[in-house]
Amino acid sequence: MNIFGIVGVFRSCNGLVFLSRSYWAKNRSRERVVLCLQKSLCFGLYKGGRQIGLARVVTDSSTFAYLGDVYVLEEYQHRGLGKWLVSVVMAHPDLQGLRVWCLLTRDAHELYKQFGFTELKFPARWMEKLDPSK
Ligand SMILES: CC(C)(COP(=O)(O)OP(=O)(O)OC[C@H]1O[C@@H](n2cnc3c(N)ncnc32)[C@H](O)[C@@H]1OP(=O)(O)O)[C@@H](O)C(=O)NCCC(=O)NCCS
Repeated sequence: MNIFGIVGVFRSCNGLVFLSRSYWAKNRSRERVVLCLQKSLCFGLYKGGRQIGLARVVTDSSTFAYLGDVYVLEEYQHRGLGKWLVSVVMAHPDLQGLRVWCLLTRDAHELYKQFGFTELKFPARWMEKLDPSK
């Protein structure tokens, strides 16, 4: 495991390759991908000099954080790296003591449950405004 490293927190567009492969962002324009990464707290997972994973957090560093775009490159999946990436993200000093963490997932609920995420306790209190074209 020690040849892998989270090489700091970065603000760049290295996530483009990952997001273009994801089921949720494959139709996101390049401009929107770059913007969402620039405005987020981004984490890269590296093997040597090659980026093999990504996660990002949208947060006020005080009360709320949204975890998104968690991705480990296919050939490195199922080795514990996704769990390690999420654990490093959640241990970041700017993300401690928050009231709410939230995320969206189609099928990885069991991954996030290991970090304390649950289904919505009060779904009636949550609202959303979706634009399916974005
Ligand atoms: C999801 C993803 C980040 C997990 O990373 P990984 O390195 O493959 O996963 P890990 O080896 O760390 O193990 C993940 C654990 O969650 C579980 N899990 C539950 N749902 C899962 C899912 N949809 N995909 C992967 N793992 C899942 C695994 O079984 C494993 O359980 P374990 O602790 O009992 O071994 C990675 O598979 C990935 O990038 N997938 C494609 C993009 C994606 O779906 N991202 C999540 C969007 S919410």
